[in-house]
Amino acid sequence: MKAFIFDLDGVIVFTDKFHYLAWKEVADEQGLYFDEVMNNLLRGVSRADSLDIILRENHRELPQEVKDELLVKKQAIYRAHLETMTRDDVTQEVRDTLAELRRRGYKLSIGSSSKNAPFILERVELTDAFDAVSDGNNITRSKPDPEVFLKGAEFLGVDPAECAVVEDAYAGIDAAKAGGMIGIGIGDAAGYEKADYVIETFSDLLKIGTGV
Ligand code: BG6
Ligand code: MG
Repeated sequence: MKAFIFDLDGVIVFTDKFHYLAWKEVADEQGLYFDEVMNNLLRGVSRADSLDIILRENHRELPQEVKDELLVKKQAIYRAHLETMTRDDVTQEVRDTLAELRRRGYKLSIGSSSKNAPFILERVELTDAFDAVSDGNNITRSKPDPEVFLKGAEFLGVDPAECAVVEDAYAGIDAAKAGGMIGIGIGDAAGYEKADYVIETFSDLLKIGTGV
């Protein structure tokens, strides 16, 4: 293994609550049902696909122009929450583990469906911890399609078969496997049988491959 590709939301930072609050506000205004369980279905899924899932779950359809307005509104609310993030929103455990993986010679990339990934990394002062960022701005298909991870591998100049993906979303583990990569599940995805490894806490990454 030569590289690690990290999902961002739910692995490096915990923005789920902000996604939830933003979608909840939009859904309430439209008289759509939305709860934490539905929010889980949106993990790793693009913004536009997320709205389609919420509508599907509510057996509702909306014209494209209304959907476009709702997507803009969701982004504005979400972005305002992101503005409150600081360096303290990334744990020392995550910072130390990334630094140690780098010290051991691994290349590190982000592989996130989010178009806000560069902004989030900047807010939490973590941009420099990665050699590449593959995100929602450079893909056309969202997870479980492997595109975002394959682009990450390409940016790093590493063969996909030599990359391990760290993910909290089932769709992300599926994407890693579809791309011929090793899938490491954390958080929600630690319960997914398709994950090659599961870790309880971020620093457990340092044990992988050491036989511990
Ligand atoms: C993923 C999140 O990282 O990014 C999803 O898990 C989100 O919940 C997706 O929908 C797109 O995010 P953004 O920031 O482009 O709206
Ligand atoms: Mg995630």
